[in-house]
Amino acid sequence: MFRTLREDIQTVFARDPAARSTLEVICCYPGLHAIWCHRLAHSLWRYRLRFLARLISHCNRFWTGIEIHPGARIGRRFFIDHGLGVVIGETAEIGDDVLLYQGVVLGGTSLQKGKRHPTVGDNVVVGCGAVALGAITIGDGARIGSGSVVVKPVPQGATVVGIPGRTVEDKHKPVMDLEHGDLPDPVTEAIKLVLERQDRMEETLRMLERATGAAAIEDEERDDQQSDGR
Ligand SMILES: CC(C)(COP(=O)(O)OP(=O)(O)OC[C@H]1O[C@@H](n2cnc3c(N)ncnc32)[C@H](O)[C@@H]1OP(=O)(O)O)[C@@H](O)C(=O)NCCC(=O)NCCS
Repeated sequence: MFRTLREDIQTVFARDPAARSTLEVICCYPGLHAIWCHRLAHSLWRYRLRFLARLISHCNRFWTGIEIHPGARIGRRFFIDHGLGVVIGETAEIGDDVLLYQGVVLGGTSLQKGKRHPTVGDNVVVGCGAVALGAITIGDGARIGSGSVVVKPVPQGATVVGIPGRTVEDKHKPVMDLEHGDLPDPVTEAIKLVLERQDRMEETLRMLERATGAAAIEDEERDDQQSDGR
C-alpha cells in the first residue's frame, strides 16, 4: 500500500512542474486526494458495500470537486491535475499513466445498465473540459484536446481536437522513425542495382541474338531461293 502511495506522489512530481515539496503535494493536490478516496471506495464497492462506497465517493466530491463513481476501474499512476469538475462514470475503465485535467467528463449516453462509459488506454492525456461519451475506446497514447467532445473510438497515439472530435496530425512526431538496427545498406543496394541492370542487358542481348540469328537464317534462305531460281 505504501508503495502505491509513494508512486502516486511521484506521479504528481512527474506530471506537474509546479509541485515543489512532498508535504505540498500531500496537502494541496485534490487530484491526489480524489484517487486515494476512490481506491478506498472502489475496494468497498468490490466487497459489495455499495452504500458505504457511494458515501465515500460523495464525500470525495464535496472535498475535491471531483466525482468518481466507486465502480470505475482506474489503473496505476493516474493523475488528475487541478481536478475541479471531473466526472468519471460507473463503467469507465482507465489504464495506467493517464492524465486528466479539470472539467473532464468520461460519461455515458445510454440509460441502460451495463457498459456505457469510455475505456481509456494507457498513457492517455485528456485536456481540460474535454468530454468523452459512450462505451468508446480511447487507444493507448492518445491525446484529447481541451474542450473536445469525443463520441467515436480514438485510435492509439491519435490526437483528437474539436467538436465533434477530429484527428489532427501530430507535428511533434519525427517525420521518419530511424530504426537503427534496420538501416539500409547503400553498398548492398548499389550491388543489387548493378546486378539487376546486368540481368536486363543480358536478356536484351539474348533477344537481339535471337532476332539477328533468325534474320540471318531468313537472308540465307532468300539467297538460296534466288540462286535456285536462276
Ligand atoms: C490536443 C493537444 C494535446 C495538442 O497539442 P499539440 O500536439 O501541441 O498540437 P498543436 O498545438 O500542434 O495543434 C495541432 C492542431 O490542432 C489544433 N488544436 C490543438 N488543440 C486544440 C483544441 N483544444 N481545440 C481545437 N483545436 C486544437 C491546433 O490549432 C492545430 O490545428 P492546425 O493543424 O489546423 O494548425 C493540446 O492542444 C491540448 O489541448 N492539450 C491539453 C492541455 C490542457 O488541457 N492543459 C490544461 C492545463 S490547466
